[in-house]
This record gives sequence, structure tokens and C-alpha cells, in this order.
Amino acid sequence: MGSAKNCTEAHGIGMRQEELPIRLLDHADSLRRTVAPRIALNRKSALGQFMTPAPVARFMASLFPPSTLEACALLDPGAGIGALSCAFLDRWTGGNGFGFRTVEIEAYEIDPALRDHLSATLGRHTEHLPVSWRISSDDFIEAAALRSMAPRRFTHAILNPPYKKINSLSSHRLILRQLGIETVNLYSAFVALSLSLMKAGGQMVAIIPRSFCNGPYYRPFRDFLLQRAALRHMHLFASRNKAFKDDDVLQENIIIQVECGGIQGPVTVSHSTDDSFADLITHEHPFDRIVFPSDPECFIHVPTSPGRNSIELSHGVRSTLSDLGIGISTGPVVDFRLRDHIEDQPTNGTVPLLYPGHFTGQTTQWPKEGLKRGNALRLNDETRKWLLPNGFYTVVRRFSSKEETRRIVASVVRPDAFPGAQFLGFENHLNVFHQEKSGLPEALAYGLAAFLNSTAVDENFRRFNGHTQVNAADLRFMKYPDRRTLSKLGEWAHRQHVLTQAMIDEKVEKLTR
Ligand SMILES: C[S@@+](CC[C@H](N)C(=O)[O-])C[C@H]1O[C@@H](n2cnc3c(N)ncnc32)[C@H](O)[C@@H]1O
Repeated sequence: MGSAKNCTEAHGIGMRQEELPIRLLDHADSLRRTVAPRIALNRKSALGQFMTPAPVARFMASLFPPSTLEACALLDPGAGIGALSCAFLDRWTGGNGFGFRTVEIEAYEIDPALRDHLSATLGRHTEHLPVSWRISSDDFIEAAALRSMAPRRFTHAILNPPYKKINSLSSHRLILRQLGIETVNLYSAFVALSLSLMKAGGQMVAIIPRSFCNGPYYRPFRDFLLQRAALRHMHLFASRNKAFKDDDVLQENIIIQVECGGIQGPVTVSHSTDDSFADLITHEHPFDRIVFPSDPECFIHVPTSPGRNSIELSHGVRSTLSDLGIGISTGPVVDFRLRDHIEDQPTNGTVPLLYPGHFTGQTTQWPKEGLKRGNALRLNDETRKWLLPNGFYTVVRRFSSKEETRRIVASVVRPDAFPGAQFLGFENHLNVFHQEKSGLPEALAYGLAAFLNSTAVDENFRRFNGHTQVNAADLRFMKYPDRRTLSKLGEWAHRQHVLTQAMIDEKVEKLTR
């Protein structure tokens, strides 16, 4: 908690709720539209100042379960101009399931300019409510750490925390480590610390990037969250840029509702295209579909449909890459490190250098005119160790573009596309499937590509990965058909003159059923 000097405090008690003005949020939202465009971009990203639009804030407040508590203590860390607290108060005054007699808000906001707006918003609108509020100017991470030994007091928390990497040597990282919280981003730190300040049974709703759901860096955070709280609801926006569209934030966000110390039961998963929530779809899923009991990494899946995905159900898709004797690596050529060895066009003494731009569907176009980088890498002692022998490989782009409907886009590299080339350079924006650092049998390369390009695989991938990236680790984590089935699929795929999505999906389903 901040010192008195660092705090703005005010109390307003009074008035019966029927007389209260509702829709406090509307005022906060018009303030957001005025204030947000004036924040300099560098400040916005340094402090992660992406404010929650009113429809999203209102939806978040609606996710809290009804409560018969008399006294509510609400935490709003990184409060900005107060949209989330206002949405929470609106739900209360609107008579929608909150029976509190009093609400005590504790808000943290590090930016003095926003703090002024925040106290004006809370002050102006809460003077008629039995609400007391307190705004702290302290850094929430430091303040929460100081309070870690104090009795837990919050019954509710609502947050849209800042998103920013935490440097491994920073004071934040050190403070968090001392509290047993190993995490790499401010958003997960805010969630973990808020949880540690909440009473058993406390309810939290947070909008955060989806990146914590998978990947090794967020593993300790997933453990922390799932050990201390029960996951009750997850909401996903169908498109990556819908939650904060005014700020042009291109990132998949998820809204989670968790209960501190709760016993884990089924999880409600909802989806909507955008923040109008017009096409809201809601399903309940058993927890073992969200976190697979056999998964040591505790990935959090977000099912997109009520039934199990055909990949999950299929007995024919059970092999790991190591069962198959196949390796997956990120393209070893990091072009800016080998800049001096890159040539625009192939000449004597160079080998092909392959970027995602060389692949369109199943065709390889190399060399390619107008490529930003080059088409070839000089073969010498410095470059040789980053090359693979020419052969058949399956490649998957690491970054899908915004327009692309699929996350996983796989292509086949054929040796005869590079006549006379002894080696190939795969640039870092590609993932490469290989067999002990050499090419794959032809049919296997085609089979892998067809399998990876199926709708079922893409759908399954999206359940655990919300990144715009497809990393080698993600592809290593997935399950595949056995080698025989992949080869059969590859032979079939190679025979087709035209290969449509429907044909791939039908064949994959038939072979792996
Ligand atoms: C993503 S914005 C969200 C604001 C508000 N909760 C909303 O939903 O509109 C995060 C806020 O956290 C504040 N912030 C960033 N780092 C902070 C810290 N270490 N302690 C307290 N507040 C911080 C930023 O200034 C920013 O206003």
C-alpha cells in the first residue's frame, strides 16, 4: 500500500441505490476517447496504456458470479482512468446480482496524468454511492510485494494490466522471484500478485494476452494460477485485433474469470467476433479438455466448439515426432548475422537461401525477383555449419500474416527445384522438418505437409496457441499419424494435380480415423 503522501483518498457514503446514477462507465469511456489519442506512443507502450473500451469492460463486469457479500473490497491494479471500476459499479447499481451494502475500491495507477482523470472519475461518480476509494501512485509490483505478508483482503479484482516484458535482471523480476513468482511479463505478474492479495473465494476477472496459455516461459505462471485458483470462464475474440481496436493492438486477448482457492470444475468458454458480443457463443467443457491430464506442460486449451476436435478423438494421430524419427528446427540461417555472405542472386559458389516468401501454397519460386533480402548464401567455412544437405523437407512459416486464415502453413521443399545445389540455407522465419539434419523421404515430406495443412490440425493448434507465431516447440508438442499413414497421405497428395482444402480434409480424416 502506498504511503499517505503517495495516495489520493476520498470517501463518499450516502444515498440509497435506487437514486443512483447508473452507467458510470459512459463517462469513463468518453474520457478514454479523448485521453487515449493524446498519449504519446512511446509512453503508451512503455506503460502498456491500452484502455478497455466500454463494451469489453461491461462484459468483464458481467462475468463475476452473483454475490451475497455485504462488503466488497475491489482491487483495480493499473486502473488507467477507471473504466473497469466504473463497469463494476455499474453492474452493482444496475441491480444485477451484487448484494453489497458497501464497496471499497483500491486502485493503483503509476501515471500521474491518468491518476488525475481517475480520481476525477471515481470522485465525480461515487459521491452518491456507499463507496470508499483509494488511489495509490505506487508501482503495483512493489506495493503488492510489501503487502504479501499482510492479511488478504480483496473479495474482487478486475484488471487489464500493462503488457511488457520483464527484463531478467530488473528489480521487478527480483521482487517477483522472492515471492515465488517466476514470470516474464508485467501482465502475468499483475495477475499473480493480485491473486496473492485476494481472500479465499475471491473473484477475479482479467483481460490479458493469450500467450500465457502455452509455451515454456509461462509454465511457472500457469502452475501458479492453476494451483491457487479455479478457472471458471474464458472468453476469446475471434479476431486478433478486436478487443482494443481503437488502439490498433494486434494481439490475441483472452478474458479469464477465476476463483481464488476454488475447486476446479467445468470451464465455460465463450467466443464472439468482436466487442459488440452480438454473436456470443458459450459452451461448457470438462476441465480435462482445457488442461490435458497427461500434459506435463499444462497448456491451456481454448476449445472452439463443443465436441472434441477430430485430432483429439483420432486414434490414428498419436505419434510424437521422436516416435517418427523426425526432427524439427527453426531455420538455422539468421540473416542479419550472415548479412555479409548473402547475395541477391545465385552465382558460382553460392547455395539457395530460402525465406517464407519463396513458397506459395505447394509451389516454390526460387530465385525470386524483388525479395527484400537475397536468394543465395555464399558457401564458405562461416556459412557451412548453418546449412542442410539438399533434399526433401517440409517447412512451416513461423509467422502467419494477418490476412491468412490458417495459422499453420506448410510447404514441401523439393531438391530438383535447386538443380546442382549441394546444400540449402533455411532462414530463421521458417521451421524445418528433417531427419537427423538431412532430408526426409519424399512421400513423408508430402504427407507431413498435407497433414499440417488440414483444417483439423489448424483448429487443434488454435486451442493451445494464440500467438501469431508457430514455433518449433509447438510443432514438437503436437501429435502426428504414424510414418506409414503419413507416407500414404504424401503419395496421394503428390499424385493430385489440384489439391483443395476440402480434398486434404477428407483424406486426412479418412486415413487417421
Ligand atoms: C492496459 S492499461 C489499462 C488501464 C485500465 N485498467 C483500463 O482497463 O482501461 C494498464 C495501466 O497500468 C498502468 N501501469 C503500468 N505499470 C504500472 C505499475 N507498475 N504499477 C501501477 N500501474 C501501472 C499504466 O499506466 C496503464 O494505465
